[in-house]
Amino acid sequence: MKRKLTIILAVLVAIAAVIVGVRIRFNEPLPKGSQDEQVKAILERSDCLVCHSQEPSLPFYAKLPVIGPMMDGHITAGYRFLDLGSELENADGMSEAALSKLEHAVTYSTMPIHEYRMIHWTSGLNKAEKELLSSWIVEKQSCEQMIQPIASRVEYDEAKAELGERMFNDTALSLDGTISCATCHVLEDGGADHEDERVSEGIYGLKGGVNAPTVYNAEYNLRQFWNGRAADLAEQAAGPITNPVEMGTQTLENVVERLMADKALVSEFAMLYPGEGLTGETLCHAIAEFERTLITPDSRFDRYLRGDESALSELEKKGWEEFQENSCAACHFGAALGGRNFEYVDVHGDYFADRDPAIEYNADDEGLKGFSLRDEDLHKFKVPILRNIDLTAPYFHDGSMQTLEDAVRAMAKYELGKKLSKGELESIVAFLHTLTGVNPHLAVSAQ
Ligand code: HEC
Ligand code: HEC
Ligand code: HEC
Repeated sequence: MKRKLTIILAVLVAIAAVIVGVRIRFNEPLPKGSQDEQVKAILERSDCLVCHSQEPSLPFYAKLPVIGPMMDGHITAGYRFLDLGSELENADGMSEAALSKLEHAVTYSTMPIHEYRMIHWTSGLNKAEKELLSSWIVEKQSCEQMIQPIASRVEYDEAKAELGERMFNDTALSLDGTISCATCHVLEDGGADHEDERVSEGIYGLKGGVNAPTVYNAEYNLRQFWNGRAADLAEQAAGPITNPVEMGTQTLENVVERLMADKALVSEFAMLYPGEGLTGETLCHAIAEFERTLITPDSRFDRYLRGDESALSELEKKGWEEFQENSCAACHFGAALGGRNFEYVDVHGDYFADRDPAIEYNADDEGLKGFSLRDEDLHKFKVPILRNIDLTAPYFHDGSMQTLEDAVRAMAKYELGKKLSKGELESIVAFLHTLTGVNPHLAVSAQ
């Protein structure tokens, strides 16, 4: 009897302690200091750094059996998703990607994850902290970070773009005169490779290691290529021309020499690029100028963002909500819904071990590491643009996902460690279909 009473008493005291703890935590005044210092202190005292930094200060139970390994899993995934520790130390301030993610977690109150909150009732952000974080994020937010309509016009030099368009379609750029940029970036077909080609076929039928991304809206990419090895479109254009399996083993100078035989072309370059004429650099510049025109505004989603409620069906609107709630928008942000950051394809689970064994692991699977040479960049890929996504199957850098359903299912599994319900999957895919727009400048030359 006495024992029972003690147990009841102990439980009551524990509950009271939790209530008092939670109340204290949720009325805790904001930390002092500049806004940046306040933000840092808030993220620290809300336990965010336990899972989102490289050297977390771990709670005592992190060494216990069962809980320990579970905690390890959360920390690994949390750290791979977002390295808040480094972001807070970043001299230039938080990256666009970190701000986008943080905004998501604050808006939807997703953090810390449930399992952690079950043990730490006082963890997480209180109302005042959320408000401060939100207003701080709005202040730091750049327009690149926000999901917004594609610009309906871009500034470009019409004559150079027209010349660039011809060069984009010119097979003389390849060693054997059979391949142009348009061979792999089919402008009538979403700007990527033909349907059902996992990887592109270049010169002499040689296959590359990755799937061709679309050239539409590529100007919105922070850098070009899956691993970001080209800083911009002009630098990118030199890549395929000199790539042995794309347009052949040749230098830009070789190509220019060959093109010099075309006198009309030479004088056109001389006129548009006074003092420079036809060079490797001006050739790439003209192509890039054409690519800048390849925007696709006025998709149904753009019309919706501009305020036309009837542009999306109920199911598609639900999909847009789900896209935001499920953290998709935390990585796929900006006007093109992607292209702005590099993220691990395997935040949760071992993507490459689960992949179809017919696809051999190769250097392209290293992702950003292949360019930056930093170990921590292994398996990070540029988050692809989702504009016109229904036209560019198959998906992922390795072209391993045949349908949008496959791609979205894999995203939920490897990025978020969850399984979407049938309804969520259906509505998100319906939403993705609304991202297809029309290019207003296509065939600049024909206008
Ligand atoms: C116990 C570990 C843990 C703690 C503590 C934790 N997180 Fe996370 N966090 C994760 C994991 C794991 C993910 C990866 C996505 C997932 O699994 O849901 C994640 C994802 C995120 C994301 C991106 C996804 C989203 O929902 O927006 C943000 C932003 C984030 N965390 C911020 C925070 C902040 C802010 C705090 C503190 C209030 C915090 N986290 C505390 C483990 C943690
Ligand atoms: C043989 C097929 C092939 C040819 C020819 C080709 N590309 Fe590509 N393109 C690809 C592949 C594959 C990638 C992805 C390569 C990577 O990321 O490593 C790519 C990537 C790109 C990208 C980067 C897009 C992004 O989201 O990162 C642009 C822009 C691009 N190509 C434009 C061009 C231009 C311009 C030409 C002509 C000078 C050209 N391509 C010729 C297959 C091709
Ligand atoms: C942690 C960041 C992150 C999150 C969260 C995320 N993605 Fe992705 N997404 C990526 C990366 C990185 C790739 C490229 C993967 C690869 O090529 O191997 C990608 C690829 C895709 C693709 C294929 C695009 C193409 O051109 O191949 C689709 C579609 C997509 N994501 C949709 C979604 C949806 C829907 C969600 C939410 C359920 C989501 N993503 C959540 C980072 C993310």
